[in-house]
Amino acid sequence: KRNLFQIAIDGPAASGKSTTARLVAQQLNFEYIDSGAMYRTITFAALKENLNPTSLIDSYKIINIAKTSKIQLITIDNGTPPLAHTSPPQPLLPKTRVLFNEEDITEKIMLPEITRNITGIASNPGVREALVVKQRAMAECVVMDGRDIGTVILPNAHLKLFIIADPKIRAERRLKELKRIKKMENLEMSEVLADLLRRDKNDTERKISPLKMADDAILLDTSGLSIEEQVERIIKLALEKMRKNIEYLNENI
Ligand code: CDP
Ligand code: CDP
Repeated sequence: KRNLFQIAIDGPAASGKSTTARLVAQQLNFEYIDSGAMYRTITFAALKENLNPTSLIDSYKIINIAKTSKIQLITIDNGTPPLAHTSPPQPLLPKTRVLFNEEDITEKIMLPEITRNITGIASNPGVREALVVKQRAMAECVVMDGRDIGTVILPNAHLKLFIIADPKIRAERRLKELKRIKKMENLEMSEVLADLLRRDKNDTERKISPLKMADDAILLDTSGLSIEEQVERIIKLALEKMRKNIEYLNENI
């Protein structure tokens, strides 16, 4: 796949992966693949079938769902330039619609019930194996974000980023987002922070495909960065890498 260009973005929850990945993909005219949405989709499907993500017996049925279901991630460009003219400034992000066996579950997979149950799904090796196959098949000229993209899914990605930010800043960002988009006014900061830390711990400590910075990834701390600055840095890195890559291809034709 040396004629493709793959950008892998990993990091803990709410570090800014998907916002950046979407905008970078839009500017480069690449595909954006939200691998977290796929884990959320399997969690949704399991709960819908009354399967318990942490039950050994149910885990086999859940693996079967992951293998046989059709997951589609469809990016709809908002048709507006990124980061434009809103007050207060909010980037107008391209949106990904998530279809599970043709059913649009985009909003449903972001509900707290899904987030609470996701770790059982994410640590199920059979589910991960099924999603690896689907995710690799989606990787053309792509920006993909998740936890194991640079280490497992796209180990040969041309550019790998590991995005981190101070946990309190991440919780503040996520709280603001949930209040804005989901109108969850009663949500407490402490609740959001606890959920992020619990998932980070689980993601880092699980046996299979743990959250880990790839040896050749670039670390980016976004605690003090705006979304615009974050996107700009990554685009710059991507263009440098693309130039080197083309030079290499030229020399080795
Ligand atoms: O947006 P946020 O960072 O909160 O979560 P997400 O990217 O939607 O991912 C939700 C959960 O799916 C994570 O906490 C991980 O447990 C799992 N996940 C994973 O295990 N591997 C991936 N490549 C992506 C997500
Ligand atoms: O995908 P991930 O869970 O890593 O994070 P995200 O969904 O991209 O970002 C979480 C929230 O932080 C979003 O509401 C972003 O708009 C916001 N954010 C921010 O305010 N400043 C940044 N530099 C990056 C993200």
